[in-house]
Amino acid sequence: MTYITPEPIVEYLAGLAPLPHPHLAIVAAEGSADGLPIVHPASGALLHALARAMGARRVLEIGTAIGYSTLWLATALPSDALLITMERDSARADRARAHLTAAAVADRVTMMVGDASRSLHKVAGPFDLIFQDGDKAQYEPMLDRLIELLRPGGVLATDNVLWSGEVVPGFVDPPARNPADTAAIRAYNARLARDERLFTTFLPVGDGVAVAVKR
Ligand SMILES: C[S@@+](CC[C@H](N)C(=O)[O-])C[C@H]1O[C@@H](n2cnc3c(N)ncnc32)[C@H](O)[C@@H]1O
Repeated sequence: MTYITPEPIVEYLAGLAPLPHPHLAIVAAEGSADGLPIVHPASGALLHALARAMGARRVLEIGTAIGYSTLWLATALPSDALLITMERDSARADRARAHLTAAAVADRVTMMVGDASRSLHKVAGPFDLIFQDGDKAQYEPMLDRLIELLRPGGVLATDNVLWSGEVVPGFVDPPARNPADTAAIRAYNARLARDERLFTTFLPVGDGVAVAVKR
């Protein structure tokens, strides 16, 4: 995956601070060896900082994969907090569970295996922080439910809002991504930016992270 920030800058920033948990490096290496689309470490660090700054105690994540972003979030929470994470691929969910157990943070994580568009109707809010990193075509259809589940002042963070720059017409030529996903992210970004229930800022971190605060 292409990222927006030049590689030497990314490497300089990554070298400044140690990881908050040693198991993060193990999951990142596994994700990269398997070619899985896990968050950029800088985006993981942003999620961790947001959760800590907010004193988050109830967090929801859509798209667990093997638990990399889950681990960034879980390590920012106290052990009696609740992090619900949703993943439709049961083999990935099993791997995530194993990583969270190995990192000794499984106590605060509940995994829901299945289609998040259904699971979202089985959970009750309010959540302090929601991380959207599931199917890009589902970003917009899920938005109303996610806003409903957030507390006032809560944050919806969304990954891949820059889509390697492909949301900007002509920036990547020829485009490498599925055009339907690119169009879906563009439409989602436009909707987030205009939604009066939220204040949204789009950060060029990793593959682009939108941070939307519920008014
Ligand atoms: C980009 S990956 C998530 C990466 C993970 N957040 C991380 O950074 O470590 C997206 C994941 O969402 C899952 N997914 C996609 N659509 C979903 C849906 N409707 N319900 C639940 N999971 C879904 C995929 O199986 C995939 O594992």
